[in-house]
Amino acid sequence: MSENTTIVIFGASGDLTSRKLVPALLHLYCKGRLPEGVRVVGSARRPWSDEQFREVLREHAEQFMGAAFDSALWPSFAARLFYVPGSLNELDDFRKLDRALVRLEGGPANRLYYLSVGPELYEAAIRNLAEADMARERDGCWRRVVIEKPFGRDRASARALNSVVHAAFEEHQVYRIDHYLGKETAQNILFLRFANTIFEPVWNRRYVDHVQISVTETVDVGHRAGYYDGSGVLRDMFQNHLLQLLSLVAMEPPASFEADAVRNEKAKVLSAIRPIALADTIRAQYRGYRDAEGVAPDSQTPTYAALRLYIDNWRWKGVPFYLRSGKALRAKASQISIQFQRPPHVMFDLPPDFKLIPNILAMCIQPDEGVHLKFQVKVPDSAQAMRPVDMEFRYQTAFNRESLPDAYERLLLDALQGDASLFARSDEIELAWGIIDPVIQGWEASPEVSPLLTYEPGTWGPEQADAFLAAEDRRWWHGCGDQMTEDEA
Ligand code: BG6
Repeated sequence: MSENTTIVIFGASGDLTSRKLVPALLHLYCKGRLPEGVRVVGSARRPWSDEQFREVLREHAEQFMGAAFDSALWPSFAARLFYVPGSLNELDDFRKLDRALVRLEGGPANRLYYLSVGPELYEAAIRNLAEADMARERDGCWRRVVIEKPFGRDRASARALNSVVHAAFEEHQVYRIDHYLGKETAQNILFLRFANTIFEPVWNRRYVDHVQISVTETVDVGHRAGYYDGSGVLRDMFQNHLLQLLSLVAMEPPASFEADAVRNEKAKVLSAIRPIALADTIRAQYRGYRDAEGVAPDSQTPTYAALRLYIDNWRWKGVPFYLRSGKALRAKASQISIQFQRPPHVMFDLPPDFKLIPNILAMCIQPDEGVHLKFQVKVPDSAQAMRPVDMEFRYQTAFNRESLPDAYERLLLDALQGDASLFARSDEIELAWGIIDPVIQGWEASPEVSPLLTYEPGTWGPEQADAFLAAEDRRWWHGCGDQMTEDEA
């Protein structure tokens, strides 16, 4: 494979480029992971020169990377940065860009086009790439396109976008990013399940009581209110991140780790999800949301949702999966908790009101990444008292590292290496919308079944979400390890 490679970032003056893409590329460069002959070409409407682009990126890299910014290595990285101004709506600008790329490349080269722009510009960008003959693979070199979320705002628009994409690129050239899949801990779900033998035999309806997938955030919508008010939590978090996590937890073992083998299994799980009953959903908005700039004064947009769903297959029939996510909540935590069934018979002599905490396997995606197993032990010096304790694995201590690589590092590297296993395929995206669309439509059509509730910022969301689980003698787990123990107290 040719090492001569160009990464073209459309939307190079934007937030994502400075905050995520350039720091990730710089880290990869420092680790010697980028192809030898790599260059990064930014494009946006601002009339910058190469020099101005390098200056802006340096400033932002220092700001966002803090101590991790390597000023000694920056000049050699900066020498690989270039800028070509242009508009995504102008075919002529693509032709100019292509000529500039050909000059810089000096011969056959691979190209990764990264669409770090608003979704309203995806179609124009993709059409123009094809029209300017920049999408066709030739001379043994590849052309790939990375598309950020949101990928459509419902199934119909995702389908329409997929057909525009497929008119320009083959599916194997397309990398739809879901940054949750790039998180080390999300990838670890597959290793935990399929590189060990002790978990898989109990990973099913015979032993699992229920599964919780929870992504809680402390931030409110902040300056993104304009976008958020037209989307809401289901489109922003469930259609992509939560359903992707669910598919990793629930999928069958693929025969290989090859991209399509993995994605076939994920798609099968998504297609086995039973339509969600509106009565199994809770939606809420935090108090004060409507005061944010860009939010309609009578906005019905939920900033929190919790729902119960079922996967109708042999492994999971009858096991509830509870998903929840929200903004302005008490703590930031993304975690998956597998709660096992209680022992069928407890022979110990326990007080009548004793409530046995079942085994829980908690996978902490962030922060304090790790895996925890909760189980009962005998309290020393007691006759028959027992207490749950925690067996834990923490990335930080096990691998002696302060922080894990950012998801964008993994994903950029995989896209450069042509490994699409951590990217969503077109059918997964459409299946996920097929699960979410009816809920959003149902909320609009029958608001009385699941009315929009209000919750106080800094809490765990509406009380009704607790009552929802309590009615089945279950409860939300808000954190991993110690946090879980505190929750119990
Ligand atoms: C993004 C959403 O996809 O994910 C944001 O648009 C959300 O609203 C973010 O805050 C959460 O990502 P992370 O990595 O901070 O959990």
